[in-house]
Amino acid sequence: MKIIDEYFSRNQSSFKAYEKAKELLPSGNTRSALYWQPFPLCMRRGTDSHIWDVDGNERIDFNYNNTTLILGHNHPKVIEAVRAQLEYGTVLGAATETEPRLADEILGRLKSGDKIRFTPTGTEANMQAIRMARAYTGKPLIAKCLGGYHGSWDAVPMMPDASDIPRSVKDNTLYFPYNDAVAAEALIKKHRDQLAVVIVEPTMRDMTPRPGFLEVVRDVTEDNDVLLVFDEVISFRLSYGGAQGLYGVSPDITAMGKIIGGGFPVGAYVAKEEYMSPLSIPDVKLPETASPRLGFSGTFNAYPLAMVAGLAVLKEMKNSRYDDLAKIGEEMRTGLRRVFEEECINVFVGGVGSFFSVSWTDGEVYDHVSSMKVDRGLFHVFNLGMMNRGVFILGHPNISVVQTGQDIQVALEAARATVRDMKFLIRERAPTLISASALADK
Ligand SMILES: Cc1ncc(COP(=O)(O)O)c(C=O)c1O
Repeated sequence: MKIIDEYFSRNQSSFKAYEKAKELLPSGNTRSALYWQPFPLCMRRGTDSHIWDVDGNERIDFNYNNTTLILGHNHPKVIEAVRAQLEYGTVLGAATETEPRLADEILGRLKSGDKIRFTPTGTEANMQAIRMARAYTGKPLIAKCLGGYHGSWDAVPMMPDASDIPRSVKDNTLYFPYNDAVAAEALIKKHRDQLAVVIVEPTMRDMTPRPGFLEVVRDVTEDNDVLLVFDEVISFRLSYGGAQGLYGVSPDITAMGKIIGGGFPVGAYVAKEEYMSPLSIPDVKLPETASPRLGFSGTFNAYPLAMVAGLAVLKEMKNSRYDDLAKIGEEMRTGLRRVFEEECINVFVGGVGSFFSVSWTDGEVYDHVSSMKVDRGLFHVFNLGMMNRGVFILGHPNISVVQTGQDIQVALEAARATVRDMKFLIRERAPTLISASALADK
């Protein structure tokens, strides 16, 4: 196939790097999400909205380390803050002045909490948030959405049938479909005496909440003494106050990551002091000593370079910049819809704010089951074709504030040319995606 042959010929050094890495790492890989067939690209550097791979190919980035780099690559304010902090060392084995500064910036944006703890990843933010909720409520069960991702750990597998997790652990996790307020309400009410917490991504991957879904989950958890975690590891970039600010629904606990570390590993969770009480250490007079009910440590928690980089990013991200991002996002979504319509291909273009996505299905994608109708092969070949044309879209496509109108135009032209190259494949694999009028013309 032309797209795959071209991918091979343009990316020979990436191919060699992959072959070498395979000798040392399973499938040459350390992040399953960054593996793709026939081999993943090996990147070397990034500046603003562009990245370069080891073959010297330049591409416009629409991935930004899976939504992390909201200011793009190597923003001068971030580099300056990190350089200055490096002068003091890397980690100092004690609290530093950097962490309350970032804490203050984040807490100023969220009505839902007044205390924060930092972790090295979004995964650990969710882990600790859930343990804290169990400790606070004294109840064992958690509930989550089918297909929802909250990190790769055993309490929150994406699906109930995960084969690597013991039944005794799986029995503590309940599931309901994203966007199904009726199912969520029934599940919460049924298990209220044992259910500690519900964890939801306000926007789940490229899906957006239907009117009323988040509101019902909020009201029903509150009425039934169940805590609500919003996993905003990705969605916090949707507005100055995250997805909760955009949709006007407040959780009890917010987990975060990605943008708040400015390109360094980070996570955090925010809650009202009351819910954080299991972590509090009583003030006692020496020689007495005291411990928290729930102790969490982490060698790299509140990593100083992440704290200063995150602060530099958030200081740049004033309210109006989220509106600018949403405008460019809308330009991209509208442009993609126009391209596919003009090429007579039915796909679902989704996303909100700075997110966009192309789902290769003719139905709406609003929950796990509808997302499984996507033709993964077409999705994948489309991404390869876009990479051949200098556009890096992957996983959770998104835009940053350094994206230019020119970037969007290049991406839309690349999409049109790629779809044209794929028409024979679409006819072969998924003829229902070709609009009826185009078939009639043929
Ligand atoms: C919604 C969501 N929660 C949690 C995580 C885990 O965050 P991290 O990769 O920083 O551990 C991710 C990662 O992509 C995510 O998308």
